[in-house]
Amino acid sequence: MDGLMDKVVILTGASEGIGRALARELARLGCHLVLTARSETRLQSLALELAQEQGAQADVLVHSADLTHPHECRELIDACIARFGRLDILINNAGMTMWSRFDELEDLAILEQIMAVNYLAPARLTHMALPHLKHSQGQVVAIASVAGLTGVPTRSGYAASKHAMMGFFDSLRIELADDKVAVTVICPDFVVSQIHKRALDGKGNPLGTTPMKEDKIMSAEACAVAMVPAIACRERLLIMSRRGRLGRWVRLLWPSLIDKLAKKAIAGGH
Ligand SMILES: NC(=O)c1ccc[n+]([C@@H]2O[C@H](COP(=O)([O-])OP(=O)(O)OC[C@H]3O[C@@H](n4cnc5c(N)ncnc54)[C@H](OP(=O)(O)O)[C@@H]3O)[C@@H](O)[C@H]2O)c1
Repeated sequence: MDGLMDKVVILTGASEGIGRALARELARLGCHLVLTARSETRLQSLALELAQEQGAQADVLVHSADLTHPHECRELIDACIARFGRLDILINNAGMTMWSRFDELEDLAILEQIMAVNYLAPARLTHMALPHLKHSQGQVVAIASVAGLTGVPTRSGYAASKHAMMGFFDSLRIELADDKVAVTVICPDFVVSQIHKRALDGKGNPLGTTPMKEDKIMSAEACAVAMVPAIACRERLLIMSRRGRLGRWVRLLWPSLIDKLAKKAIAGGH
């Protein structure tokens, strides 16, 4: 993946799950990485692992930030420029989810919280990064979800945030074409990570245990490996499961079938 060698990349949500696995792949391919999430401890442990795996080649800046706070987004971009002098790729990966029927939600602030992390924070961070990305003719990557392509029961707020993300980044791609800034949207299906245990229930508390059948879904490592070529080739869209790719077309002709399959996937946990 020569296209990624020496690229300066900001990767959000790097402390856990898909982001953590993607950091390993990007470091292996010679990227200079700005790793961000709220947990400084988890980021430092990742930086240590990368240093052990890559030796002196790992060029990593750890910068913890809560991306729902605008000034922390600004400080993140500034820290990247101060250290590396440029930005080539912004990967908006940080995210959170819910696990509750809408009529069982006790606190609608959950919807606002999910929108703030999954949609507003990437939009804000992208806005702040744009001057640097235009200068480098770089790339924005948005980790959306197959839940951005269809409705998903018990995930109404999450699906809404991922649909928002898709609409936003699809629009941005058109606007940025003349600036030669690429916009890549990636839609994973279910992946083993912390997101399911951390999903908010109807009261706004993390579930604490995963409702997924983890042996039947993709590992974060496999997910990261599959994402890399799409990023390197500046592709516009990667849908990561066969059912996700087929579902888009079937939905046009037989939408109620897709509703049934979404219900079955949630009930079965895979
Ligand atoms: N796993 C799946 O099944 C799946 C499927 C489709 C799409 N996705 C998407 O893939 C992306 C990565 O998810 P994952 O599954 O790897 O989840 P994860 O293991 O829970 O990781 C989420 C990451 O986001 C960070 N984060 C959460 N809130 C944040 C905030 N306010 N500010 C800064 N960082 C924050 C977390 O770090 P801290 O807690 O340290 O801040 C963590 O590093 C998400 O956008 C998710 O929607 C996941």
